[in-house]
Amino acid sequence: MCGIVGIVGKEHAEKIIISGLERLEYRGYDSAGLFVADTQQSHLIKAQGRIKNLSDKLTQDVQGTIGIGHTRWATHGKPSENNAHPHTSENGRLVLVHNGVIENFEEIRQQYLANDSFYGETDTEIAVHLIAALMEQEQLATKEAFQKAVQIIQGSYAFALVDKEAPETIYVAKNKSPLLIGIGENFHVICSDALAMLDQTNHFVEIVDGETVTVTADAFQIEDAKGNLVYRESYEAQLDLTDIEKGTYPYYMLKEVDEQPAVMRRLIQTYEDEQGNVQLDASLVEELAASDRIYIVACGTSYNAGLAAKKFIETMTHIPVEAHLSSEFGYNMPLLSKKPFFIFLTQSGETADSRQVLVQINQLGYPSLTITNVAGSTLSREAKHTLLLHAGPEIAVASTKAYTAQIAVMAILAQGVGNYLAIEAAQEMDIFHELSLVATAMETMISEKAVISQLTEDYLSNTRNAFYIGRGNDYYVSSEAALKLKEISYIQAEGFAAGELKHGTIALIEEGTPVLGIITDALTGSHTRGNLKEVESRGAKTLVIVSEEFARPTDQLVLPNVHPLLTALVSVIPTQLIAYFATLQRGYDVDKPRNLAKSVTVE
Ligand code: F6R
Repeated sequence: MCGIVGIVGKEHAEKIIISGLERLEYRGYDSAGLFVADTQQSHLIKAQGRIKNLSDKLTQDVQGTIGIGHTRWATHGKPSENNAHPHTSENGRLVLVHNGVIENFEEIRQQYLANDSFYGETDTEIAVHLIAALMEQEQLATKEAFQKAVQIIQGSYAFALVDKEAPETIYVAKNKSPLLIGIGENFHVICSDALAMLDQTNHFVEIVDGETVTVTADAFQIEDAKGNLVYRESYEAQLDLTDIEKGTYPYYMLKEVDEQPAVMRRLIQTYEDEQGNVQLDASLVEELAASDRIYIVACGTSYNAGLAAKKFIETMTHIPVEAHLSSEFGYNMPLLSKKPFFIFLTQSGETADSRQVLVQINQLGYPSLTITNVAGSTLSREAKHTLLLHAGPEIAVASTKAYTAQIAVMAILAQGVGNYLAIEAAQEMDIFHELSLVATAMETMISEKAVISQLTEDYLSNTRNAFYIGRGNDYYVSSEAALKLKEISYIQAEGFAAGELKHGTIALIEEGTPVLGIITDALTGSHTRGNLKEVESRGAKTLVIVSEEFARPTDQLVLPNVHPLLTALVSVIPTQLIAYFATLQRGYDVDKPRNLAKSVTVE
């Protein structure tokens, strides 16, 4: 959701910015823009739609040694060229890009900018006008005005500012929205995500909320909110450019689906010690073991992963688990148990809905763990503990490998805690062996692409809607399967508890409505089959995705058997591929679905 890149001290800043913005495309955006300058000239160019529209506008003379660029995902004001960033002050001197939402923009307009006129409808324009107003009214230098403005502004922001009269400095600040400084030889970059600038450097420095940074070609200076200088070590990004390239794949989503067996194996390597035991921070295991209830807080696909891991954790640890949607939990907190432990599941580590809960949990003093794919992300830094997903960058907006990695990491964690508590079920379990079987089973399903593509065409080519049904964990996977299908193919899909259909929703079944049943559980499988019969007799076209041990000759997709508590890791694979093929067959962009952002940094 919105992306910032910038560079100071290198020729052809415009090219570096365009390629950085392309690498941030995965975050979701609806317009883009850049500003580049050198001592002789400056250019500000914006375009609605894809980055290609922006790069098509760059003529030969658009060059610079300093620049900032932005992809915008509309919050205040519709997607348009006027509302695209960068925005300028009324006198045109200051140029600003911004991620986040300014909450007190109306108050700022009334108090400081009553006589200003605005070009677009964004809160960002208010911010850049405010900096200019402070320079004029209080005779402040650019840096001081910028620092004063960020004290006045409330809300979330990552800002990058250039003053055209001194085009050798980028001023940046951050609060709740991600931003990094990258260190190069005689140049510096800024970016929302290290991925964007990996071809320039892999040494980055984090910026903490409330800090401002003055960035030039040779140096950068971090100051805290009180103006004290801050020194912070750089870190090396553990990312490889090949991780973020599509290679021979037509879409990132397909690459990421295919990577899932390798991710399982990487998790085994990471979390298994030489004796075959789970290696986890002892204090994390002790705190979890001492809790009387685990609250998993997450959004979207991560929430679905939390649900899919619940039974495994409860079986291994005997600690009750509740999964909650962050956006609900934060404002309607349930009565908590006496010794709660909070797990924040978030592939990006930046999701604002989840973060607002973590802030409250920290204020209440409860222990917390963030399970994330992004080391150093906001939720990782702010939770007491972090476990990484080691899934490699997930670029497609539709999450696939992060979902399965989340379930696997929670299973490893539960095994570690269960062993510590000497729970019999954990002692009988060898999670690493089971995950290696899962990896092989995933490969089997991934190799069924041709069959899955054909089934998708047969079942989903002409439909407006579809249902996935299942019970227990199969219900939770149905919810994820339906989310994947609707978010990229735009087929109205619902994941339903199979037994609930007859209590109302069955009224929606018409001649030809696709109903896809997931069956991986001995106890409930026959009931789900009964529910499939019920809808079939009302005209539905049914498809069965079933574990080998319960399969019948007429079933369409058969899953290799894995541990009964880990079936979600395998049954989800054909549903990811169904979503992929349905989207391709409808001619939509698989990786960049409309209206969606990868990293959702507003509530
Ligand atoms: C869907 C998807 C989203 C995210 C949700 C939370 O494919 O990816 O539903 O799961 O926006 O994001 P994270 O996991 O980054 O907190």
